[in-house]
Amino acid sequence: MGLATGLGFAHAGVRVVGYEVRADVRLALARGRTTIHEPGLPALLRQEVESGRFRLVPTWDELVEQSEVVFLCLPTPRRADGRIDLRPMEQGVRELGQALKKSRRAHLVVVKSTVVPGTTEGLVRPLLERVARTGAPRLTVAANPEFLAEGSMVRDVLRPERVVVGVTSTQDERRLRAIYRGIPSPVIVLSPTGAELVKYASNAFLALKVSFVNEVARFAEAVGSDVDAVAAAVGRDSRIGSKFLSAGPGFGGSCFEKDVRALVARGHDLGLRPRLLESLVPSNEDQTRHAFAVIGRAVGPLRGRRVAVLGLAFKAGTDDVRESRALPLVTAALRAGAEVRLHDPVALENFRRAIQSPSGRVPRRLRFCERPSEAVRGADVAVVQAAWPEYRRFPPAWTRSMRSPTVVDLRRALPEAVRRRPDLRWIGLGTASAGENRPSTRGRRRRRGRP
Ligand SMILES: NC(=O)c1ccc[n+]([C@@H]2O[C@H](COP(=O)([O-])OP(=O)(O)OC[C@H]3O[C@@H](n4cnc5c(N)ncnc54)[C@H](O)[C@@H]3O)[C@@H](O)[C@H]2O)c1
Repeated sequence: MGLATGLGFAHAGVRVVGYEVRADVRLALARGRTTIHEPGLPALLRQEVESGRFRLVPTWDELVEQSEVVFLCLPTPRRADGRIDLRPMEQGVRELGQALKKSRRAHLVVVKSTVVPGTTEGLVRPLLERVARTGAPRLTVAANPEFLAEGSMVRDVLRPERVVVGVTSTQDERRLRAIYRGIPSPVIVLSPTGAELVKYASNAFLALKVSFVNEVARFAEAVGSDVDAVAAAVGRDSRIGSKFLSAGPGFGGSCFEKDVRALVARGHDLGLRPRLLESLVPSNEDQTRHAFAVIGRAVGPLRGRRVAVLGLAFKAGTDDVRESRALPLVTAALRAGAEVRLHDPVALENFRRAIQSPSGRVPRRLRFCERPSEAVRGADVAVVQAAWPEYRRFPPAWTRSMRSPTVVDLRRALPEAVRRRPDLRWIGLGTASAGENRPSTRGRRRRRGRP
């Protein structure tokens, strides 16, 4: 997030210096290479390094000496109890505070990381003031949450739909507006705590939309309909909107689950009982279990079967596997006794690191494949977990090489013409094909019994 944000500012004409604790990442960036897969980011990096507007420095001291506004883009990972782990933020704030203590320059410190409402004012400001031994007007703080999405980071930082800043003075507002001047977007001004809440409310709403359409998908399967057709019609209502109504195996990625859990935990701390928000992670987990059940129904007991999983990133377009649904799906398949072959065009290494034991051991019966054709060979079922374009054609050569040409398409990524091909059996999550062989329920029996 920090890299994309910094490059967005540089592109808009602001001179940006960046500091990153990992020397290997710093070195790669200084040479114009990014360490994550993100469309358009390497080109933007090279452009802004060449323009001289984007530079990296090796220490906090240099960062502070060469800047007036510091954006903190530090990680805020999830703790086991659902709250965010503020230790990396506290560590970064202490390091920045030490550097500020030695500097004579005035600074505005802006928290861009996603932090629960109250963090900028309640934690970052006092800690920074204590370590830096200074305060306003020389040292002020603000919040400016980031809304970019992986896979479309460049577009999102160059043309955000809105910029939200949380400030405590008009002077800080002016400084932030000046930084965003070259970026065509409305700037919405709130208090720091209000800005922090906007970020959580936004991500919770997006997670809600995904969980909602996933539950509709289960209905669609049960009644013999198609979730995409239903969602397209529902989404035509502008009050609802068509975006983010795409069913799948559950939301993944580094943000949604973490943010929803953190917001719920914060709500509990505040004495609230946000029942709707509380239900999002359980509904999402249900959906992943449901996706696994669809696979199981397609091939029968998994013991001794070979499962090909195509797409390991949490979605197509990124190599990020954080909270990817491929992780629980693969783990469940292994536990059920299947042999699993994996493919992803860019996320294979990240997935290997995520699934291996701390000593570097990869589970037995797991194979990483450089090509999708290799993953599907001899498989009893191929599962499309992320909708990478290379899976869409699913050529007859792949189905011919499978033990049984069954494709469980968790994203409905294969086009209509491929779905109808006689050489494969297509089962799409959220469609009637996934509803076949459902365990019978009272509701179904009653429906069948009607005239
Ligand atoms: N990933 C996204 O799509 C996204 C979108 C919006 C907001 N966010 C938020 O942005 C924040 C960062 O997320 P991310 O996905 O970029 O995390 P990340 O882990 O990919 O990046 C954080 C970077 O900070 C560096 N770092 C850690 N401690 C440091 C220190 N003391 N000094 C200097 N550098 C340090 C790490 O080495 C790492 O490169 C989080 O709060 C996240 O919730 C992320």
